[in-house]
Amino acid sequence: MTVDATTTTTTTTNPRNITVIGCGYLGAVHAAAMADIGHNVLGFDVDVDKVALLNTGHTPFYEPGLDELLERALATGRLRFTTSYEETATFGDVHFLCVGTPQQKGSHAADLVYVRSAIQTLAPMLTKPSLVVGKSTVPVGTAEWVRDELHRLAPAGEDIRLAWNPEFLREGFAVQDTLRPDRLVIGVESQRDEAELADLYAPIRAQGMPWVVVDLATAQLVKNAANAFLATKISFINAMAELCEATGADVVALADAIGHDARIGRRFLQAGVGFGGGCLPKDLRGFMARADELGVDQALAFLRDVDDINMRRRRRAVDVAIELLGGSVNGANIAVLGAAFKPDSDDIRDSPALDVATSLHDIGANVVVTDPKALDNARRTRPGLTYIEDVREAVANADVLLHLTEWREYRDLDPAEIGSLVSHRNILDGRNALDAKLWQDAGWDIRALGRPSLGHSHAQ
Ligand code: UDX
Repeated sequence: MTVDATTTTTTTTNPRNITVIGCGYLGAVHAAAMADIGHNVLGFDVDVDKVALLNTGHTPFYEPGLDELLERALATGRLRFTTSYEETATFGDVHFLCVGTPQQKGSHAADLVYVRSAIQTLAPMLTKPSLVVGKSTVPVGTAEWVRDELHRLAPAGEDIRLAWNPEFLREGFAVQDTLRPDRLVIGVESQRDEAELADLYAPIRAQGMPWVVVDLATAQLVKNAANAFLATKISFINAMAELCEATGADVVALADAIGHDARIGRRFLQAGVGFGGGCLPKDLRGFMARADELGVDQALAFLRDVDDINMRRRRRAVDVAIELLGGSVNGANIAVLGAAFKPDSDDIRDSPALDVATSLHDIGANVVVTDPKALDNARRTRPGLTYIEDVREAVANADVLLHLTEWREYRDLDPAEIGSLVSHRNILDGRNALDAKLWQDAGWDIRALGRPSLGHSHAQ
């Protein structure tokens, strides 16, 4: 039997009643996956529309493979979704906490309002012994607060136990990362809780990934540290891109060369307009804010540079666009390829592409943004820009193209065909993902971040 990464081979021999509290990216995928491996699952969310949609097998966001997984899980009869806390409290022997922890307005710290409200509403209804398992990304120390609140407010008191099980899923690969994670990390306070989680995850563990058992504080920090490291790796190569721009060196060749060292590795060394999304930027800032509260702000002071380097890349993309326009932006037509913070996602949270597009719009350019999946979300949050779904229509009469999200379809574009639609053959590859030679040979002035300018081979 051939098995792809979005299917499991076995189901549990010991099905539990599991609830998943908060059905965003993390919770919706987790709920479907737990039902897929044989557990009885009740997903909870406060959003009535989201719950109605999930109950019909649809997700409120684009995530490859998730609709299929959801339909498969719903068809087993082991999965449903509710907006009732009472039902959730009564149903579950294990409650997974998957609510969002966004950045607080006006501060770098994580906003724990959803964690607090979920725990303080659920706890007074917990009358039977159960295990609560935190999966949300939280500032270290939150788990201990959650445990104490559960003991204080739940009628079952200390029979409500707490574990922490951080999640490392990437958008675009969420199903695969949930059904076949590269490791499972659990923070527990007793061997009994470890055994319970080991049994619950048995069908996933049977595939043989590392099973890492730690204490509560370490489990919370593992997630913060993993995201901080990934962000640092990206900003490191983007700092090298700045050096390359100052010296005429090529950051892609440099990344290839250092990436051959197995201690460094080539992954997450893709230079460009930098990281965005709903996790890395806010988790980085939340981590610094927590270090500050703990009196160890110096330990993470370097993350401020990581954040600054990342934001500088967006400004650099704006500057290169202005250069390509010969210095006059006012009234120029700019087509931005990509609105999502990365390909295979419709998520536009902290999207570098939309930031660059907005900056150019604000200084007088006519900016058209195109994207295969993210335009509805983009339109809602940045209504001032012009959005056109069809890439060929979007680039018509453009003076410059900005390639800012590396969707497969943009890499596959024919530079000669696209060249016949634009006013001027100028392009910035903000993701170092296009074949620069191909575009140059088709008469384009192609620029890339951190790479020497190729110029263009023949004038139009
Ligand atoms: C990230 C973590 O990878 C995941 O483990 C965690 O659970 C949540 O945060 P995600 O936000 O889905 O996942 O995106 P990821 O694939 O990590 O990319 C983050 C951003 O970095 C994107 O904007 C991407 O374009 C950018 N990136 C990534 C680079 O600029 N260069 C790279 O080399 C890699």
